[in-house]
Amino acid sequence: MTSKRYAQIVGWGKYVPGQVLTNDDLAKMVDTSDDWIRTRTGIVERRIADPRETTSTMSIKAARAALQVADVVPERLDLVIVTTATPDYLFPATACLVQDALGARRAGAFDLLAGCSGFVYGLGVGSQLIISGVYENVLVIGAETLSRIMDWTDRNTCVLFGDGAGALLLQASDAPGGVLSFTLGADGSGGDLLMLPGGGSRHPASAETVAQRLHYARMNGREVFRFATRIMGQAAKEAIQAAGLKIDDVDLFIPHQANIRIIESAAKHLRLPMDKVFVNLEKYGNTSCASIPIAFCEAIEEERIKPGDHLVLVSFGAGLTWAAAVVQWHVPLPAPRLPGWKHLLRHIGYRWVWLVSRLRRTYRKFSSWWGQAVGRIRGNDNG
Ligand code: ACO
Repeated sequence: MTSKRYAQIVGWGKYVPGQVLTNDDLAKMVDTSDDWIRTRTGIVERRIADPRETTSTMSIKAARAALQVADVVPERLDLVIVTTATPDYLFPATACLVQDALGARRAGAFDLLAGCSGFVYGLGVGSQLIISGVYENVLVIGAETLSRIMDWTDRNTCVLFGDGAGALLLQASDAPGGVLSFTLGADGSGGDLLMLPGGGSRHPASAETVAQRLHYARMNGREVFRFATRIMGQAAKEAIQAAGLKIDDVDLFIPHQANIRIIESAAKHLRLPMDKVFVNLEKYGNTSCASIPIAFCEAIEEERIKPGDHLVLVSFGAGLTWAAAVVQWHVPLPAPRLPGWKHLLRHIGYRWVWLVSRLRRTYRKFSSWWGQAVGRIRGNDNG
């Protein structure tokens, strides 16, 4: 008889850019105030990527941290999923850039786009690929550089969002726990409520789309708010029920960090006291797909999670989409620190991987040039 498999979270890591943009800074850019943003959203400041940082560079940092916590080498990864609405490029997938930088030679890699619900969607997909016996180690990353798609003259959107990345490593285990259940949902009729209109096949990038500012995110905040307050509690209830649990069994609720009023409304719907709810949106704003994994890492850092705890993750976002998952924590905390020599080896390993990738690229260019040169010489000889 084969024993049942579980998908445990064994590694976690986050990265947030160093540059802080406060509400007061924003009040100098658009017609808003610290008081309005704090009272309407709960956000106090957010992080902004510097010009050299992108979704892939932040993902790589979060991913390396997660692999380090778990003491898993990148060669053992079977799959890298990057959940994001702000990939480095439309293609190649940001996940491939991450796979290359990690040196995850055996891993498949793809991006997953499901608005801010992307990370919980990714956790659902990744956990099933483990539970079904297909994979052993799946890295799920949530990362965003939302500052690049913000219209910094539109106070309705630019005050809400921030940049960052978080990663969780899922691993096969026969110890009960890990991702116990999840629920995914979508209602495309609300697609126009939150969208990036330009740059896709509907409105390919052109001087006209830029002039019309179609390359910036647009949102009907009021309608998204109404949807979010309705769906968060409902999705959480569904996932809790699917895990065979009751709301009283929930030890920590880690919601998408979009707006404190949405979070409080979901907690009220579930009759959960706020001391069972993790909130860090005052520091980072809404980092879309990165918000839950960053919050997850901080809940661990703040010792809000202990073995045996039932955690509920819930998010909503563009699409419209929603998703919730129940996780039973298994790993002893705090995680043991890697010895210094292992850190050094990892560092050297990543430099080596970088060099090999550059050499491959150079070899491809050279062999393509060589092929063309030989073809030209042969052509001249024949002619
Ligand atoms: N500063 C000052 N005033 C503002 C600002 C601002 N930054 N933004 C809007 N206002 C004004 C509006 O213009 C409006 O003025 P009006 O009445 O003269 O038209 C007034 O404030 C009230 O606007 P509302 O939309 O009613 O404000 P509300 O209380 O709903 O808060 C908010 C707006 C914060 C955007 C809220 O609706 C919200 O959080 N919505 C959800 C947004 C969200 O979570 N989006 C992310 C989805 S996840 C994803 O996939 C990325």
